[in-house]
Amino acid sequence: MSPFPLPNPLKIAAIKTENASTKTFILDGKLDAQPGQFVMAWLPDHEDKPFSLANVDPLSLTIADVGPLSHALHQLDIGDSIWIRGPLGKGYTLPTLSTGKTAHALLIGGGYGVAPLLYLAKQALQLGYQVSMVIGARKETDLLLVNDFKTIGTSLWLTTEDGSTGIRGLVTDAIPPLLAEASIRPTVVYTCGPTGMLQAVAAVGAAENIPVQVSWEEHMRCGIGLCGSCEVGEGWLTCLDGPVFPFDPVMVSPHTTTP
Ligand SMILES: Cc1cc2nc3c(=O)[nH]c(=O)nc-3n(C[C@H](O)[C@H](O)[C@H](O)COP(=O)(O)OP(=O)(O)OC[C@H]3O[C@@H](n4cnc5c(N)ncnc54)[C@H](O)[C@@H]3O)c2cc1C
Ligand code: FES
Repeated sequence: MSPFPLPNPLKIAAIKTENASTKTFILDGKLDAQPGQFVMAWLPDHEDKPFSLANVDPLSLTIADVGPLSHALHQLDIGDSIWIRGPLGKGYTLPTLSTGKTAHALLIGGGYGVAPLLYLAKQALQLGYQVSMVIGARKETDLLLVNDFKTIGTSLWLTTEDGSTGIRGLVTDAIPPLLAEASIRPTVVYTCGPTGMLQAVAAVGAAENIPVQVSWEEHMRCGIGLCGSCEVGEGWLTCLDGPVFPFDPVMVSPHTTTP
């Protein structure tokens, strides 16, 4: 459970193919981390890159094959090592509920953005929250981790842009029917995914007067607040002050003021 301040090799215990471009790597190790925190993953001859925690025990990373490092990771087999540094950054805030109380957490993810929400959903359910999960993708075969969210007991809403399953449209199209059906109004919306999706979700949150926590993605190099490459807004460092921020929907980036 100890953190890895320096890159620490962890062997791959299992690999799950999630869709045509995404695999989950289940590592032989565990980490004490908040949902929404990330690790830096490294392979020899590559730059290390940040990845969200889909699970912490065992440590699991859900990775889309999009470029040099992610492609190299996709070529690995069971028994190979990935060097892990972390956990890093600030995660989602999930208030503890008083005994006998319940609350409703609404989680909305697109692309590999569903990965950190799986770990968040598990924690929220353990704390006594009702959890609704909206997963969006272009088409049915792109949807990620659907069975994992079903298995742990979230109320699941799917959206696809081509209408191949679930609601035809974007993740935000699931929000009105979900709110109409919910017996308890969500107290917080937690979201992770492409920037445009985060902004659209934040705008709906503002219109509905529900606070939104977003996991923001910026290019990272050091992951620990030293290089400045992940600056967002006026002086916020995504790796240190985020990646999870409360979102101001009128901004392109998550903050208007300096820290
Ligand atoms: C906080 C944080 C958490 C992250 N968590 C995850 C995670 O859980 N899973 C994951 O797969 N990635 C995650 N990423 C992205 C990851 O860090 C890398 O950027 C990604 O794997 C690409 O690295 P690369 O070296 O393979 O390719 P790069 O050279 O970095 O990218 C290759 C090309 O693909 C583009 N690209 C990058 N990402 C995507 C994408 N998702 N879809 C389409 N094009 C893309 C880039 O703009 C570039 O043009 C996260 C990033 C951040 C900041
Ligand atoms: S990645 Fe270096 S300061 Fe954030």
